[in-house]
Amino acid sequence: MSNFRTLDDVDVSGKRVLLRVDVNVPMDNGVVTDATRLERIAPTVTEIADKGGKVILLAHLGRPKGRDAKESLKPVAVALAKVLKRDVAFADDCIGEAAAKAVSAMKDGDILCLENTRFHKEEEKNDPSFVAELAKLGDIWVNEAFSAAHRAHATTEGLGHKLPAYAGRTMQAELDALRKALEAPTHPVIAIIGGAKVSTKIDLLENLVSKVDVLVIGGGMANTFLHAQGVDIGKSLCEKDLAETALRIVDKAKAANCEIILPIDAVVASEFKANAPSQTFALDAIPADGMILDVGPRSIERISAAIDQAATLVWNGPVGAFELAPFDRGTVAAAQHAAERTKAGRLVSIAGGGDTVAALNHAGVAGDFTYISTAGGAFLEWMEGKPLPGVEVLRTR
Ligand code: 3PG
Ligand code: MG
Repeated sequence: MSNFRTLDDVDVSGKRVLLRVDVNVPMDNGVVTDATRLERIAPTVTEIADKGGKVILLAHLGRPKGRDAKESLKPVAVALAKVLKRDVAFADDCIGEAAAKAVSAMKDGDILCLENTRFHKEEEKNDPSFVAELAKLGDIWVNEAFSAAHRAHATTEGLGHKLPAYAGRTMQAELDALRKALEAPTHPVIAIIGGAKVSTKIDLLENLVSKVDVLVIGGGMANTFLHAQGVDIGKSLCEKDLAETALRIVDKAKAANCEIILPIDAVVASEFKANAPSQTFALDAIPADGMILDVGPRSIERISAAIDQAATLVWNGPVGAFELAPFDRGTVAAAQHAAERTKAGRLVSIAGGGDTVAALNHAGVAGDFTYISTAGGAFLEWMEGKPLPGVEVLRTR
């Protein structure tokens, strides 16, 4: 962590701290339905407030085109106040008079949330005069929003060039965990990559084969690899036009000494539906009208054995249609096995991505992994080996 400045490197007392957070939480009729992201940032907010800093929260919600009451951060500020058990003031705009007035009314230790930064189109454009307007409100900028760090927006990146910049605590924890996973991991490293489509994860797979020792491919995307290798997969989900890409990834893995583990058996149903009648087949016996919805028991054993050999695990994407019972078995078994190894002190396990977090919660093991990232797109881009603008700007040069 030495190449990032953190809250250990600044005295926030009496300072106006522009704290960029990601509180892009799911909402239903103005009510926050999952407060995970609020709970994650809470310790950073209270730490700065308790040290006498003025906490000025900057955040986006949704993807509004201009000002839109439906995407106001006001209800989020209310939910955050509940999580913090402290008052959170609110200003109707993130720049201009409303913001300036609210900031000048703050006392040391106060918390203020400014309105959705994306109500201004200049936010996503990283517009210099918008950045300058925002910068007037603060003395320092603390980036706590790893999950928005793949965006080079005014509040996620631009401010880092204008004000002294620091990583917040969850940003720090995230960077630390990610470094342990791929930058400087203990080998052997295993990656489990699942999900429906190869097309969304080509860059990720290509980066991983050069970094990890074993790559488990599951979920719908495994079908594309099986099909490319001549396996008859019936009417399973498959991106036939990506056969060449799949073979190229397999070749690249061979050249890099990365072992690819594909399913060796499959749970097959004739429709994509919960509790659809299903049967397990070897790969040479998939019925023509069958759909692969999960990995089979022999595949699960093979994945578990591979986890046993590994010191580090990086996981993104379920290995079966986990949202439909009983096609969650492969994902649940692998997750529970990884959790056991982690609890036994034998495995560093890191997972991320929206579906993945849902799958691990479903398996009841989210609390047993070494680290779970709440980031979706940013976690993927990091796994693809791409520099994240909101992280790069924090590096001390
Ligand atoms: C997220 O929820 O993934 C982040 O807040 C980024 O949101 P965005 O994809 O709209 O930029
Ligand atoms: Mg997103």
